[in-house]
Amino acid sequence: VKKENCTIKVNLATNPYEVRVGSHILYSIGDELLNLDISPGTRILVVSNNDVATPYCGSILKSLESAGFLPKQLILNAGEKHKTIQTISLIHNAAYEHQLERNSLIIALGGGVIGDMAGFAAATWLRGISFVQVPTTLLAMVDASVGGKTGVNHPNGKNLIGAFHQPKLVLIDINTLKTLPQREFCAGMAEVIKYGVIGDSQLFKSLEGTNHLNSFESLGERMILEIINNSVRSKADIVERDEKETGIRAVLNYGHTFGHVVENLTGYGHLLHGEAVSIGMVAIGQLSVEKGLWSSSEALRQTNLLRKAGLPVKWPTLDHNSVIRSLQGDKKVRSGKLRFVLPSAIGKVTISSEIDIEEIKNLLNILDKT
Ligand SMILES: NC(=O)c1ccc[n+]([C@@H]2O[C@H](COP(=O)([O-])OP(=O)(O)OC[C@H]3O[C@@H](n4cnc5c(N)ncnc54)[C@H](O)[C@@H]3O)[C@@H](O)[C@H]2O)c1
Repeated sequence: VKKENCTIKVNLATNPYEVRVGSHILYSIGDELLNLDISPGTRILVVSNNDVATPYCGSILKSLESAGFLPKQLILNAGEKHKTIQTISLIHNAAYEHQLERNSLIIALGGGVIGDMAGFAAATWLRGISFVQVPTTLLAMVDASVGGKTGVNHPNGKNLIGAFHQPKLVLIDINTLKTLPQREFCAGMAEVIKYGVIGDSQLFKSLEGTNHLNSFESLGERMILEIINNSVRSKADIVERDEKETGIRAVLNYGHTFGHVVENLTGYGHLLHGEAVSIGMVAIGQLSVEKGLWSSSEALRQTNLLRKAGLPVKWPTLDHNSVIRSLQGDKKVRSGKLRFVLPSAIGKVTISSEIDIEEIKNLLNILDKT
């Protein structure tokens, strides 16, 4: 084990677990599970898709078998459009065929789509069995795999069906990022920069001081490990304080409200989630500037950092009324008021529900001109 490997504890009262980050740690997953007191002979369903199964599933199955487990794999179609309740049925069918019992385990090997679905299948099979996250996208490593949100999309909206179900372990092997398409890598950087803005000014400065942010190769292993460790720590801290998102956890949605609007109105599949979040962060940053809460120079630093990470920052041409309708339909709307996470400094945000429609209209006029 390399000395850079690191373990982050997610100290939840009822479901504490560890996030292990390192290089090439995927190949010791069997031993990792034995260390968690999961007994040899346990039945395991490894859920993945073709993009990740081909390079990684064989090694995982081998490691599990040599530790004495009984693993089977299920390979699903890749893509957000398959994040549906129908696909959950496929996982349940495989769970039935592989005779998963109360003490069996599901392993999610893939990006956020696989993690959310395998987690939800685990939450619902036999009223909840254990699962382990092995995230293979930067976004899933720094965000989706930690915190226990699982679920699928409904035809009327993203992530409308789901459950909180914490994993038993999160195993992050940064080496898997080497096969990740660069555009997906950059999309994950949006969430990393988000952690910088919402609470970790050191991380933000460290990213500013790095020449290239847009690929695994240009960042190098040491920096990637640092970025992931810091991001996971930020997420774990917030989840520990508010596991079910009744308060502070909402800060993780920074940039996401406008991001969802952009995703919605430009058509799903056009922009990646992280790309839409990048545009959303710039938009909400500008709103904060307009309200006199944030300095325009810091907002510019955010824009420049997102650009350096290869992310789009320009607000697309969108009909203003459609934007407002879409904002009002967002899950984050509470009792008719628009709630936003607004930055007041790099590393500091507040949640505000004091935003009215006129301010949004004014913002949209400004965004159209920038
Ligand atoms: N649960 C949460 O807290 C949470 C948080 C953020 C996002 N999400 C969800 O995560 C999803 C987005 O996740 P994502 O960005 O990881 O997308 P994704 O899972 O669709 O993965 C992106 C693409 O990369 C491929 N891929 C994954 N790992 C690879 C690898 N190592 N090498 C080559 N190809 C690889 C995938 O097959 C897919 O085509 C959304 O559905 C979103 O709702 C959940």
